[in-house]
Amino acid sequence: MVNISESAIENIGKVLNNASRPMKERFRALFTLKNIGGEAAIKCISQCFGDESVLLKHELAYCLGQMQDKRAIPILRNVLEDKNQDPIVRHEAGEALGAIGDPNLRELLEKYQHDPAIEVAETCQIALQRLAWVAEDKSESLSQSRYASVDPAPPSSEGDIAKLSSTLMDENRPLFERYQAMFTLRNIGTTESINALGEGFKASSALFRHEVAFVFGQMQDERSVPFLIKTLEDTSEHEMVRHEAAEAMGSIATDECTEILKRYLNDPRPVVRESCEVALDMSEYENSPEFQYANTLCAVEA
Ligand SMILES: [Fe+2]
Ligand SMILES: [Fe+2]
Repeated sequence: MVNISESAIENIGKVLNNASRPMKERFRALFTLKNIGGEAAIKCISQCFGDESVLLKHELAYCLGQMQDKRAIPILRNVLEDKNQDPIVRHEAGEALGAIGDPNLRELLEKYQHDPAIEVAETCQIALQRLAWVAEDKSESLSQSRYASVDPAPPSSEGDIAKLSSTLMDENRPLFERYQAMFTLRNIGTTESINALGEGFKASSALFRHEVAFVFGQMQDERSVPFLIKTLEDTSEHEMVRHEAAEAMGSIATDECTEILKRYLNDPRPVVRESCEVALDMSEYENSPEFQYANTLCAVEA
């Protein structure tokens, strides 16, 4: 947590909560607040759940989870329980609660583990297993990957790529175990493991496929680009998966990625087109000497 005055934080919150600002600016404000942390930042983020953008709201939940601050639990609980929120947003709230990992959340997550929205149900099942894992295994730091993310599952102890691939693709295994294989394949980071992850786009669960795209975004490895392009270009694919593919392409930021992202800036699905806008902003950052992606603080103070 960084020591920044409350009024500076509120100014960043105003950027986040201002619907007339471009989405890319609001995203930068959000990530700045996430990096600052603390009660005032949580309050600013919480105020934005009434916004129209599903993309932005799901990212609010994601950030609250990554902050791992128990003070965000009540707001995340409300979002998960609010059936008027899009399943993508509710899913992210469920995942965020799993990331916070408080054992008292079990009952709530159990209540939604069979939610009619499959993305929500599957997320709560994984989050419940994460809670159980946190409770029995005190080494929670294991889930702090070198990608600085709090993952929905810890990596598995298996190191063999063939075995990891077969677990990854085994539709009879719990998603938690398949996620463990996924994060291990990510951590290995070879051509073979990337190709194994790419196979993951054939899995039946959209939630699972969106996580594969997310992991590719973390890896920022050009070898994953063909898989991501195929995913973004498949207009019959779940918008949550296409959104994640677009953002991954933004962080890989090759010329080819940029060119394709531009093509989907007018996609009929708001989640996809907004993701392309944000992704192009991320690529601009990746290709510039700017010190930090989320630098709204400097922008507001300037
Ligand atoms: Fe997600
Ligand atoms: Fe996402």
